[in-house]
Amino acid sequence: MKKIKISPSILSADFSQLGNEIKRLEEAGADMIHVDVMDGHFVPNLTIGPPVIKSLRKYTNLIFDVHLMISPVHKYIKDFADAGANIITIHPEATENLKESINLIRSLNKKVGVSLNPESKIDLIKDILKDIDLVLIMSVHPGFGGQKFIPDVINKIKDLKSIKEKNNLNFDIEVDGGINFENSKSVISAGANILVSGTTIFKSNNGDIKKNIDTLKLS
Ligand code: DX5
Ligand code: ZN
Repeated sequence: MKKIKISPSILSADFSQLGNEIKRLEEAGADMIHVDVMDGHFVPNLTIGPPVIKSLRKYTNLIFDVHLMISPVHKYIKDFADAGANIITIHPEATENLKESINLIRSLNKKVGVSLNPESKIDLIKDILKDIDLVLIMSVHPGFGGQKFIPDVINKIKDLKSIKEKNNLNFDIEVDGGINFENSKSVISAGANILVSGTTIFKSNNGDIKKNIDTLKLS
């Protein structure tokens, strides 16, 4: 069994202190840093883009797990690669040609992630599962931190895990949205090996991020 990794979302961090927040996450044992990029079009919220990611790159050597909620995504992929992303995750609905976008990310020597919204079916990405490194299952509607976990996605995680095993594939299963100390166990036993969390890590236990990361890992 793969070790559970925690990818804290900096969406819940103090945006006036992002560099320090990332250092604090690294010291607290984060395995990677989840960066939520939103365009006010693909999702109804705006966050940060390549210049901010580039300026954060010098604060840590941890993997930047960049979740692109922007459309059309294809023409911006290189900018995120150049800014220092290590994993680039895109939504299939945000590109005209999913295979081309996957190939572009790969050609830039970055890990390829594809994300499924709560209502998106696994069928949408079945053909490309062999070509990617990670599937990001959304357990909330993308756009905002602090939303409630949608329990239906547990079945989707199980189905994806079984497709993965049946076909001897190697991608990571990452789950994003509303993860807390109550649901983390079922998310992991369904087959996830990377948990994204913003609110739980930054706000639980008076913001004791080390305790919160450790507790999620031990789920
Ligand atoms: C939602 C983002 C998530 C979210 C996670 O669109 O992709 O990464 O910020 O935050 P919490 O853990 O607060 O749901
Ligand atoms: Zn995200």
